[in-house]
Amino acid sequence: MTIRAVVRGVGHYLPERVVPNSEFEARVDTTDEWIRSRTGIERRHFAAEGETTSDLGAKAAEAALADAGMTAADLDAIILATSTADYTFPSAATMIQEKIGMTTGFAFDLQAVCAGFVFALANAHALIQSGQARRVMVIGAETFSRILDFSDRATCVLFGDGAGALVLEAAEGTGTPADRGILATDLHSDGSYRDLLYVDGGVSTTGTAGHLRMQGNQVFRHAVEKLAQTAHSALDKAGLTSADVDWIVPHQANLRIISATASRMQVPMERVVVTVQDHGNTSAASIPLALSVGKERGQIKQGDLLVTEAIGGGLSWGAVVMRW
Ligand code: ACO
Repeated sequence: MTIRAVVRGVGHYLPERVVPNSEFEARVDTTDEWIRSRTGIERRHFAAEGETTSDLGAKAAEAALADAGMTAADLDAIILATSTADYTFPSAATMIQEKIGMTTGFAFDLQAVCAGFVFALANAHALIQSGQARRVMVIGAETFSRILDFSDRATCVLFGDGAGALVLEAAEGTGTPADRGILATDLHSDGSYRDLLYVDGGVSTTGTAGHLRMQGNQVFRHAVEKLAQTAHSALDKAGLTSADVDWIVPHQANLRIISATASRMQVPMERVVVTVQDHGNTSAASIPLALSVGKERGQIKQGDLLVTEAIGGGLSWGAVVMRW
């Protein structure tokens, strides 16, 4: 018998304020046309003043619980993938735990930047397979608008705020790729690439939150190469190939990266869930947002084979293969 971590519910939350590309034309030397053609982004959401990552995450978690037909009391654990927690400590995950009324179990933050949700899924999978938890809420939530340098046109146009969440539950499987649930995970990081993508502040350096800095074209090059590699490797571990994939649900950073990765995987764009035009890059929130929106659109259905893949600061990257 194999224990699988099966998706029981999914949900998301986006802050009310929608920021179209045109707003950036007034702030920096850019155009709507440049942003659309180089990234695919048309708009993004920004959190309201006083609205925090744990607020967004709690709303996404509540939506996922409603979708699962569960309450907070049914959960054993919360893993929150984020790089923009409300405070240095406590974890934003424990703040979400309190906000959704969960009084037992445990909650913690996990930080792998844009690859955070993939890392969180792999950790939830390990908790469930090892019997340490039966039901795990996995959340990606970010307020990247708080760490953007709004005078840097090369980065400020790319990111947005939002949150998405999945409820995973232990279920018995047959041990074959026909099972529902997480079938394989593949994680990597290489700290020697730190300077390509980082925040120039922090608790034990400047004592400030800092601003995001990125050598975009270098990150782009690594993304195109590493995302297809990790997706193939996860599929291989699951005993599957690209031909078995119903949906790629990629990290939504840039439409050109998404399509280059799909092309390397020989998966047509009709089988890729794309939300980057509406959300921008929401870092660890982008995959659960895309899963939730993809389900809402009627794209993702029970039994579909999904590959999620992401790369971000670290560099850190990875992929998860799951049957919905
Ligand atoms: N408007 C107009 N021009 C711009 C803008 C802008 N918003 N931003 C940059 N440019 C200019 C640059 O200054 C440069 O001008 P120059 O040639 O006069 O110096 C020119 O455009 C080309 O710059 P590049 O950076 O080479 O442009 P590129 O085609 O690579 O696109 C982009 C930039 C969109 C950032 C792309 O490199 C990219 O998407 N990179 C990957 C980002 C990513 O995937 N991040 C994921 C991880 S994020 C995380 O972990 C937090």
